[in-house]
Amino acid sequence: MMSAMTTTWDAADFDAFERSGWKGRGEAYASGFARLTAHTVEPLLDAAGVTAASAVLDVGTGPGVVAAAALARGAQVTAVDASPEMAALAAAACPGAAVHTAILPELPFPDHSFDAVVGNFVINHLGDAQAGLAELQRVLRPGGRIALTCWEREAMRATAVFGEAVTAVGIPQPDDLPSSGPFLAGSDDRTASFRELLADAGFTGAQARRESWTHRVDPDAWWSAVVSGTPLTGSLIARQPEAVTAEIKRHYDALVAPYAGEATGTVALPAVALLATGRKEPRHPLSTDEVLDIVDAEDNVIGQATRGEATARRLRHRCVFILARDADDRIFVHRRTPEKLVFPSMHDMFVGGVVGAGEGYDEAAKREAEEELGVSGLSPVPLFRFLYESPEHTWWSAVYEAGATTAVAPQVEEVAWHAFLTEAELADRLTEWEWVPDGLDAWHRLNAWRTGRPTAD
Ligand SMILES: C[S@@+](CC[C@H](N)C(=O)[O-])C[C@H]1O[C@@H](n2cnc3c(N)ncnc32)[C@H](O)[C@@H]1O
Repeated sequence: MMSAMTTTWDAADFDAFERSGWKGRGEAYASGFARLTAHTVEPLLDAAGVTAASAVLDVGTGPGVVAAAALARGAQVTAVDASPEMAALAAAACPGAAVHTAILPELPFPDHSFDAVVGNFVINHLGDAQAGLAELQRVLRPGGRIALTCWEREAMRATAVFGEAVTAVGIPQPDDLPSSGPFLAGSDDRTASFRELLADAGFTGAQARRESWTHRVDPDAWWSAVVSGTPLTGSLIARQPEAVTAEIKRHYDALVAPYAGEATGTVALPAVALLATGRKEPRHPLSTDEVLDIVDAEDNVIGQATRGEATARRLRHRCVFILARDADDRIFVHRRTPEKLVFPSMHDMFVGGVVGAGEGYDEAAKREAEEELGVSGLSPVPLFRFLYESPEHTWWSAVYEAGATTAVAPQVEEVAWHAFLTEAELADRLTEWEWVPDGLDAWHRLNAWRTGRPTAD
């Protein structure tokens, strides 16, 4: 426990401070600070692959800005906040969402409840971030994505000016307020530390990046928003005698003055956040131990073998190829990762992979397309099948087409690079790039199939 004479805060102390710190601040937060946090809402939802078909959890929803944006995408939204006051604001703002008062790291949901979990500036409010991440991973379905933001403190002028103004006045840190949260405390490279935190929590393909923007605001309105709507520096300022508050405000005015905006009476304050993302290990890991059905030249099942064995011994098995098109009818094209068992680092105009033992082609097409593109709710349409044969490989290949009309979040274990190309752009690159031979074969057959010409087999 924290001693009254020290400023050492353990996780339980920090959580207790958070529980009391937001009381009475919901409305002020919603009308002030939430305008700053709104900037990362869409990148956060994109990073988590949230689409109309996703069941998404917005954790620490506050007044529900992320939840509202997820609803606007057509997602099925659940939102929680530790503060009943915030949960009530979110419920009022998001009538289409299921909103609960719940506190990380204990959420009232069964395992694997959500396709995506998002938290906008919440992980930095937890006493024990690792415990919070473990709980978020528990409620995420295998293959689902998590995306979280936190502040990049020093570069974050929009809030740093308040701490600097307090320091300039020389107010001692009171024992009942932490000077800052424990999240990534002491890290020299917070981007790398944030990524490592997700990787250590077991998320695959963990990544973190900076998001920078300019917060344009009336400086007096921003002062009021932070002082009345935030629990740390804001509440420290709010509790000072009037004369001290006025002195802090004078320092604040001087600190923001160099950021005078183009519009009269505004400042343009640099804001920097970190956005980290990762994926829960899919149910079908990229494994050489995966068992496949082995088929004959007529596609009848004649046995089973592991994927490694099938590849090594050229045993005929089954694959699915899905041509994914965006809303502008462009084709999803990608370069495979160097770790792939076959055709590493080559380009492909299809997503897809092997069909598991006992699995149907349609089932595999949906699974592979959703996992590889990082979206849910796809309905691949079967087009035709053909037998792919080369001296090294042979597989029955079922070709599909699917609309991927919302933001994709490709699986980093499979996709090293991606873009959506028009058919003309793709045609230009057919001789320029090295393509997977089975995909290239499927592409030529698809074009022939479309024009009604017979294929080679
Ligand atoms: C900075 S606000 C972010 C609100 C909102 N996500 C946004 O983008 O503006 C942090 C929110 O996290 C909530 N929070 C803090 N600790 C929490 C916990 N352990 N479990 C759930 N919510 C928590 C707070 O009550 C507060 O509403």
